Parts: sequence; structure tokens; C-alpha cells
Amino acid sequence: MKNLLLIQSSPRGLGSFSQKIALSIVSDLEQRYPGAEVVVRDLAQNPPPHVGKAFVAGLSTGPEQRTSEQTKAMALSDLLIDELIASDVIVFTVPMHNFGPPSTLKAWIDHIARAGRTFSYSEKGPEGLLKGKRAILVLASGGVYSDGPAKPFDFQEPYLRTILGFIGITDIDVVRVEGVAVGATGAEKAVASAMAWSKEILSQAA
Ligand SMILES: Cc1cc2nc3c(=O)[nH]c(=O)nc-3n(C[C@H](O)[C@H](O)[C@H](O)COP(=O)(O)O)c2cc1C
Repeated sequence: MKNLLLIQSSPRGLGSFSQKIALSIVSDLEQRYPGAEVVVRDLAQNPPPHVGKAFVAGLSTGPEQRTSEQTKAMALSDLLIDELIASDVIVFTVPMHNFGPPSTLKAWIDHIARAGRTFSYSEKGPEGLLKGKRAILVLASGGVYSDGPAKPFDFQEPYLRTILGFIGITDIDVVRVEGVAVGATGAEKAVASAMAWSKEILSQAA
């Protein structure tokens, strides 16, 4: 039995290219793992707040000593981390917004990257605590960033690989739906290629 977590961050709902591919991936995974539990965290519909004073103070305050505001801020962080810890495969829909992931996804990351819960510090340096999970990143963009002149402007894939690796998630596949704004058939070609690549990665061991 596998637990699947779908982290959505496109505000375009069913018109979203990354969501279209991600939903197809989740559906394939459900067939592959009968009885799989799917949890959907829609960051566009329910954006986590930016981390603020209560969150930062709550990080270094024991649960008993926290103010009610700090307790509330930490409760959301705990909930998001619990969802992540419970998952085996995490599928991310990530539209490119100004060369990086949407701010809602960044806010989610700020809630889940927490010392003592998803990473720890030791004499050997930081260590990710979320081992044995697989992440699939569905990255959508108007232009092409996997190669060519715009490659240096891609702050989606390097950033997401870095932060996921930091918390221990190193088994990462990337499915790009890129060039959706390139020419009249850009979107069509991008979706077809992403669909084909997603089938390819799903045929590999999970
Ligand atoms: C606010 C905003 C910023 C965007 N910034 C970029 C960008 O920097 N580079 C790019 O290639 N496309 C950019 N786009 C286009 C989106 O990446 C593209 O529409 C993509 O399909 C969005 O993913 P989705 O279809 O899953 O929502 C931007 C779109 C929006 C709405």
C-alpha cells in the first residue's frame, strides 16, 4: 500500500498543464498501487501564509510556552509535515512563475523545512530525515528551460532538487511541460512529450 501526496500550486485549475500531467501520473500510480491513499494539498486554493513573527518565534519556543498565535502557526506546519511524512510518493505540480516556483509553493516549503522534523543538524552537518520517498516534479513553463539559452534562468528544478535533497528526498524525477507558449502548437507538443515521459518514468521501479 502506498500513500500518494499531490502538491498542487497552479492557480489555473483544470486549465493547468502541470495539473493535467500530474493528475494523469496520480491516476497511473493508483493503478500501479491498488488501494493507494491519495491526499491532495492545493496550495493555490488554500495558500499557506508567509512565515511571520509567530511562526519564527514558535520554532524556538517549547509547545507549552507558546502563545496561542504561535501554537496556531506551528499547527499548520505540523499538519503539512505530517502529510509529507505519511507519503511514499509526492507529485508536485509546479508552474513557472517568474523563473521559479509559485510563491505558494515557497510558502509551503518554508512550513515543512523544519529542524528536528524534516532535517537535523549534527557534527557532520545537516541531515535530511525524510528517507525512502520518491518525488515527481511536473514543471510547466511558457518557454524552454531544460536546454538552450534560457537554461541558466531555470530556478525551478535546481531549487526544488536542492531543498528536497536537504530534507532527505533524493529520488526525484522531473517531467517538463515546457514551451507551452512557443508557437501555435507549443502547448500541444509540450503536453504530448510530458505525457510520454511520465509514462516512461512510471515504468521504472518506484
Ligand atoms: C505570474 C506568471 C509568471 C510567469 N512567469 C513565467 C516565466 O518566468 N517563464 C516562463 O517560461 N513562463 C512563465 N509563465 C507562464 C507559465 O509558466 C505557463 O503558463 C505555465 O503553463 C503555467 O503552468 P500551469 O499551466 O500548470 O499553470 C508565467 C505565468 C504567470 C501566470
